Amino acid sequence: MDRLETVDQVRAWGGSGPDLGFVPTMGALHAGHLALVEQAHSDSTRIGSGRVIVSIFVNPLQFGPNEDLERYPRDLEGDLRQLAEAKVDAVFFPKLDEIYPDGFATTVQVDGPLTERLEAASRPGHFAGVTTVVAKLFQIVQPARSYFGMKDAQQLLVIAKMVRDLAIPTALVPVPTVREPDGLAMSSRNAYLTPQARAAAAAIPRALDSAAELYEGGERDAGRLRQSVETALGNEPLLRPQYVSCARLDTLEEWDKVEGAALLSLAVEAGQTRLIDNRWLGLAGDRPELN
Ligand code: PAJ
Repeated sequence: MDRLETVDQVRAWGGSGPDLGFVPTMGALHAGHLALVEQAHSDSTRIGSGRVIVSIFVNPLQFGPNEDLERYPRDLEGDLRQLAEAKVDAVFFPKLDEIYPDGFATTVQVDGPLTERLEAASRPGHFAGVTTVVAKLFQIVQPARSYFGMKDAQQLLVIAKMVRDLAIPTALVPVPTVREPDGLAMSSRNAYLTPQARAAAAAIPRALDSAAELYEGGERDAGRLRQSVETALGNEPLLRPQYVSCARLDTLEEWDKVEGAALLSLAVEAGQTRLIDNRWLGLAGDRPELN
């Protein structure tokens, strides 16, 4: 596994091209990240000559002033070990000034409803930080395929919009959410949960599951789907919902009556920790069509 720390080293590595798969991360890797890596690896094996590169970069631009940038978990040695075991070809782990040298002055921002609601409303500037770093990483790595988790649904939709709008030549591959045995979506931030909040958090996937069952049973009133989630969460005093949404996939505007694919999503505070999760409703398979 090649260890690359500078843009010049990535260029010299010469892995870019029609076969390269790319998994961008902020490190502290868990089984969710590794599912992206495995998907990238199996796609590249199928192609034959394909290679996989993973980036690890905790991107300060996407953290708000009161967010957890300082305490965000970091474990570079553990990450490199896991990626070597996963047979990744290269890891790019740039220092801060490699990505944002003195005088860096460019922002890539998707405007419109996709970046106004849900996570965007709670985290001003977050998606501009994400799209700026992801656009730069795409320029550096020049991957044919790029892998993103469906857990961060709005991030995936915003990046898909950026890729379409700017005609960035990479195919986005969405990967279903990997969960703990009790259903909690894996997240680097789960490490912050107290045992009590961790136990309460199991209500999140259960609440989404029961609303998804209502949907499968034919319920199309978005208000009733949202209400079902809110009621289930309301039974857990340690969970404070920030939003519960049932939205169109194209714009993330709320459905009144669900008439197409929908994203049922929520953010809750569990103790001091903010958690997000979702269910994608009405897809043809287990993944959305993007690009
Ligand atoms: P990070 O939170 O490290 O996540 C990296 C990738 O792993 C994202 O595509 C995310 O959706 C995916 N992921 C996280 N948990 C997952 C789970 N339980 N199941 C499946 N996939 C999961 O998302 C970011 O980093 C950053 O915003 C980034 C895109 C790297 C830009 O800085």
